[in-house]
Amino acid sequence: MEQLRVGVIGCGLISGVHIHALEEAEHATLAAVCDIDPDKMEKTAREHGVKGYLDYGELLAQPDIDAVHICVPHYLHAPISIAALRAGKHVLCEKPMGTSLKEAQAMVQAARDSGKTLTVCFQNRYNGASQRMKEIIDGGEMGKVIGGSAFVCWDRGGAYYADSPWRGKWATEGGSVLINQAIHTLDLMKWLSGGFELKSATMTAKRLAAEIETEDTCDMLLENKAGARFLFYCSNCAAGNMPVQLHLLLEKGELHMTGEQLTIIGPTGVSFEDYASGAKIGKAYWGNSHTHLIADLYDRLTRGEQPFILPEDGMDTTRLMEEAYLSASTIRLRPQ
Ligand SMILES: NC(=O)c1ccc[n+]([C@@H]2O[C@H](COP(=O)([O-])OP(=O)(O)OC[C@H]3O[C@@H](n4cnc5c(N)ncnc54)[C@H](O)[C@@H]3O)[C@@H](O)[C@H]2O)c1
Repeated sequence: MEQLRVGVIGCGLISGVHIHALEEAEHATLAAVCDIDPDKMEKTAREHGVKGYLDYGELLAQPDIDAVHICVPHYLHAPISIAALRAGKHVLCEKPMGTSLKEAQAMVQAARDSGKTLTVCFQNRYNGASQRMKEIIDGGEMGKVIGGSAFVCWDRGGAYYADSPWRGKWATEGGSVLINQAIHTLDLMKWLSGGFELKSATMTAKRLAAEIETEDTCDMLLENKAGARFLFYCSNCAAGNMPVQLHLLLEKGELHMTGEQLTIIGPTGVSFEDYASGAKIGKAYWGNSHTHLIADLYDRLTRGEQPFILPEDGMDTTRLMEEAYLSASTIRLRPQ
């Protein structure tokens, strides 16, 4: 059976989820890891019995590595992905696809020039509830999507930012709650509804203004070509990690997703479907679809097919976020 040999670059928080998924995948095997932190690199390499590198350039120079997963701080996604593609490796980049549209465009161009596959880790597109919503919408029985709203209310405090100092800084994280946490839900709403453009955004730092440079709360109004409106709200100031809520209005009903549960209000009645995975790896409040995304990527690569999430699609989500960051306003105050 064909198995692609994979290197994981970055041995921090998310790397364990990637390594677990690679160990489960039929057509992939973990072959190497890399981190600039020698303790993290050596521990991960030892635990999984693979070669470790301190310099990603050395890992990329290995001819027996077919693909790499980019699990490093956001500002390194573009340069390391581009170097990997130029070295002839397929790339699964953790979200976001670059911290700016310019970076994302350079990644897409490098993929085209190299002929290698580039994809981005929007694993929540693989969640059972997301897949079911997509099936209902594409099936057409409830008509077109005519609007929606999404809420991501999570809890990220000072310790989260202190643990990895690249977070909370424009230069290294590129933003905070939107580009790091809520990006998944923005991408999901965009994918399910068929796309939209930004009308207006507001960014504030309500809780951590003294600790981070970036936003901990953001809201947006988005609109599609037909004039359908979508509201988006995200904040890291919540008391806990609440289940993500995504509501879509269709011509003949409504789809309400809360975490991994789906309520379908259709022309003939209301039904409830529970897709809770009970996953022990990853975030309980979102399940864990890294396993599905990674298995599917390597199945597709061995069949010579395109990835499920095309790089142009990842680039478009980066474009929308950049527009929000560049245009965000503060709330207008009532005159005294
Ligand atoms: N898809 C998801 O649901 C999900 C969840 C968590 C994190 N992430 C993403 O994963 C990425 C990493 O996040 P994290 O929480 O694991 O961060 P982290 O800070 O825990 O880990 C990042 C690691 O990268 C290493 N690193 C930094 N520069 C490097 C370099 N030049 N070469 C090799 N290694 C280098 C650091 O030493 C650190 O170990 C981010 O893009 C983040 O947004 C995605």
